[in-house]
Amino acid sequence: MAFSLNLKRVLISDSVDSCCKTILEANGIAVDLKTKLTKEELLAEIPNYDGLIVRSATKVTAEVIKAGKNLKIIGRAGTGVDNIDIPAASLQGIIVMNTPGGNTISAAEQTCVLISTLARHTAQADASMKAGKWDRKKYMGSELLGKTLAIVGLGRIGREVAYRMQSYGVTTIGYDPIVPAEESAKYNIEWMELDQLWPKADYITVHTPLIPQTRGLLGDKTFPLCKKGVYVVNCARGGIIDEASLLRNLESGQCGGAGLDVFETEPPTGVSTQLAQHPKVIACPHLGASTVEAQTRVAKEIAEQFVDAVQGKSLFGV
Ligand code: NAD
Ligand code: MLT
Repeated sequence: MAFSLNLKRVLISDSVDSCCKTILEANGIAVDLKTKLTKEELLAEIPNYDGLIVRSATKVTAEVIKAGKNLKIIGRAGTGVDNIDIPAASLQGIIVMNTPGGNTISAAEQTCVLISTLARHTAQADASMKAGKWDRKKYMGSELLGKTLAIVGLGRIGREVAYRMQSYGVTTIGYDPIVPAEESAKYNIEWMELDQLWPKADYITVHTPLIPQTRGLLGDKTFPLCKKGVYVVNCARGGIIDEASLLRNLESGQCGGAGLDVFETEPPTGVSTQLAQHPKVIACPHLGASTVEAQTRVAKEIAEQFVDAVQGKSLFGV
């Protein structure tokens, strides 16, 4: 895809590393950084721009896209584009691009942190120390050596998680509808169908997009197929693990604990809040990509992709 985009003014509406603005301006593109705009403010501002760069806070709805009558390009400094109405953008002929890969390592590391923290109850033990307690018995953990980790979604992040967890002596099994068993074996992940995978796993981590096929992938039908006390991690998108079902399974002991970086509603409300505050849950406010390195990378990548579009180079992440 090679054509050149006449891009004059870009709005950055979320906190994106400052190198993004610097790169765009160095290439003759005017940039305004206006974060925390209300919906009404965004609707009023958007007609003044032909480019928009967001992270996840800005909801680029059909209404915003319609109001952006000069918009030519929308960039997501990150992986998931679920905060952008892609069909509405396509209808209006607007290019939507993301930076797949820029935050892969950070999200994989965050997943591994959550798995290790679940094994050793580190977060709960720390909270108890801060409450003035010295409770060694309560926080007896278990080794990761010899345990089985099921990875659902063997894309960029799933594979990096496997590579890291294997160094603990963890056996990695996985499922992905488009990754064949031979490909999966290259990453030392034994591919299997989901119904074979659930009963084998001591830990389950999901790394898929949130789409109709993955919503509630772990839920009332699948938790009973898992080992009693299975630990689960979601560092992908809230809703892949059904939250109401997770809560019930934590209460019954069918699920031993959960590491949650993402929630169905962010910031959490309702069941998401109950989970975030649950004693068996280690919760983070969507921090998977929140590292200096990942944020610099995605900011640089999206700016360079915009510049490439202006210079008529072939486009990436579209
Ligand atoms: P990716 O596209 O590289 O991999 C996703 C994989 O999921 C693909 O291989 C795809 O075939 C697979 N998949 C699709 N449907 C499936 C199904 N029904 N069952 C099993 N697998 C299925 O994506 P990625 O970069 O690895 O990102 C994975 C997820 O992590 C995305 O949802 C992304 O938005 C999210 N993410 C979260 C954070 C964070 O801050 N927590 C950071 C980066 C990415
Ligand atoms: C993503 O999809 O890239 C993540 O949700 C990370 C983020 O930008 O917070």
